[in-house]
Parts: sequence; structure tokens; C-alpha cells
Amino acid sequence: MRIAVLGTGKIGGGLGERFREAGHDVVLGSRDAATGVPYAEAVQEAEVTVLALPWRVAEETVATLGGLAGQVVVDTMNPYANHPGQLALPELYGTSGLERLQELLPAARLVKCWNHVYAHTIRTSPDFGGLAATALICGDDEAARSTVAELARQIGFDPVDVGDATGARYLEPLAGLMIRMAIPLGGGFELAFRLLRQTA
Ligand SMILES: NC(=O)c1ccc[n+]([C@@H]2O[C@H](COP(=O)([O-])OP(=O)(O)OC[C@H]3O[C@@H](n4cnc5c(N)ncnc54)[C@H](OP(=O)(O)O)[C@@H]3O)[C@@H](O)[C@H]2O)c1
Repeated sequence: MRIAVLGTGKIGGGLGERFREAGHDVVLGSRDAATGVPYAEAVQEAEVTVLALPWRVAEETVATLGGLAGQVVVDTMNPYANHPGQLALPELYGTSGLERLQELLPAARLVKCWNHVYAHTIRTSPDFGGLAATALICGDDEAARSTVAELARQIGFDPVDVGDATGARYLEPLAGLMIRMAIPLGGGFELAFRLLRQTA
């Protein structure tokens, strides 16, 4: 599958590497010509586009991508904005960053995934003693959610579908909890969320 990853930082760089290892044709989109091709070029012909940018540039960047009609667009981002005039997480109850992006890209098939997973887990391993870290997934297009679930499975995560785009209203604050545990509480990045299931 042809996958464009926009932003080659901690999350984008890590996912790009993992998808490549899984056999996908990965095109890195970057502001830096030494690292990748321009974002608008990277998304051409892609079946899946991954947005791994700081939220503060997300809205202006997606406006330059030509609409991404029909593409599965994975939003890994968390709306922690500290720029005046931008929505930030505390203002988003009742909506979410994912829903905002879906409004901006109405013909694209937006899916939230990996926003609550540390880049460290993606770059090292999602395997915790034989248990795979959970990747919670939501978005309005069921087939797009399945595509992303399959990608998550291919790179070692346990995908869990949490329904339509309104699920992002819960997934985005969950990322805040993960950051709180890692940094202010000093838990570090050797942690991941895992959903347990009772088996019959
Ligand atoms: N780090 C984590 O553990 C983690 C976990 C879950 C979700 N997230 C979310 O994932 C997104 C990316 O986070 P990250 O940790 O990967 O950040 P990062 O390491 O800073 O990477 C962000 C990338 O975005 C691109 N970019 C475009 N415009 C930029 C600008 N004005 N300033 C800085 N970078 C710009 C850059 O790639 P190019 O130079 O290649 O264009 C940069 O490397 C964020 O929305 C974050 O909330 C992060």
C-alpha cells in the first residue's frame, strides 16, 4: 500500500519506518528536502496519508493538500495549541481535533489512531511481555477504520475500534493522561495502554 507520512519527527519518523518494514511503499513528506518531498507532493497517489504534525500547523497544512478525496487520512495529532486563536484541548469538549479536520477535508476518510501511543513505543516495540499495546481507532468511515486497524496489526499493535469520529473526544484527552503519567508524574515512556478482555 502506498502511504504518505507528513512530518518526519518522533511519530511520523517512527510510523514511516514501521510501515516500510511491514512492506509498504512509504513516502515521507517533509519541509526539509533532505528528509522527504514537499507535503503536497507526498500525498499524490497515496492510499493512506498520515498526519504527524504539530497541531498548531495542522489546519493550515491540510488546506494545501488538495482535499485528499477518498484517501484514508490518519490523524495522530493532539490539539495542544498554545497559539492565540487556535482551539486547544480544554476548549474542544463537544468536538475534537479529528472532527475539525474532517470538516476541513470533507471528502477524505479521517481516522484517529496512535495519538495516545508514545512515539517511544512505536520506535522501540509495542510488545509488552507478549501483550501488544492497544491502538484505539475512531472515525466516521468504517472501512477506513478497518484499513487502519490492519496497518496497526501489521506493526504489532492490538487495534480496538471505538466507533465514529466523536470517539476522538475521548481519545484526545486520553493522550493528555498518557503525557501526564510520562512526564509530570515521572513514569517515563516505557508505558502503554492495553485494553483487557474477558475471554469466553
Ligand atoms: N511524541 C509523541 O510521543 C506523540 C505521541 C502521540 C501523538 N503525538 C502527536 O503527534 C504529532 C507529532 O508529534 P511529534 O512528537 O512527532 O513531534 P515532532 O517530533 O516535533 O515532529 C513534528 C514534525 O512535524 C513537522 N512540522 C511541520 N511544521 C512544523 C513546525 N512549524 N514546527 C515543527 N515541526 C513541524 C516536522 O517534520 P518535517 O520537518 O519533516 O516537515 C516535525 O518533525 C503531534 O500532533 C503530537 O501531539 C506525539
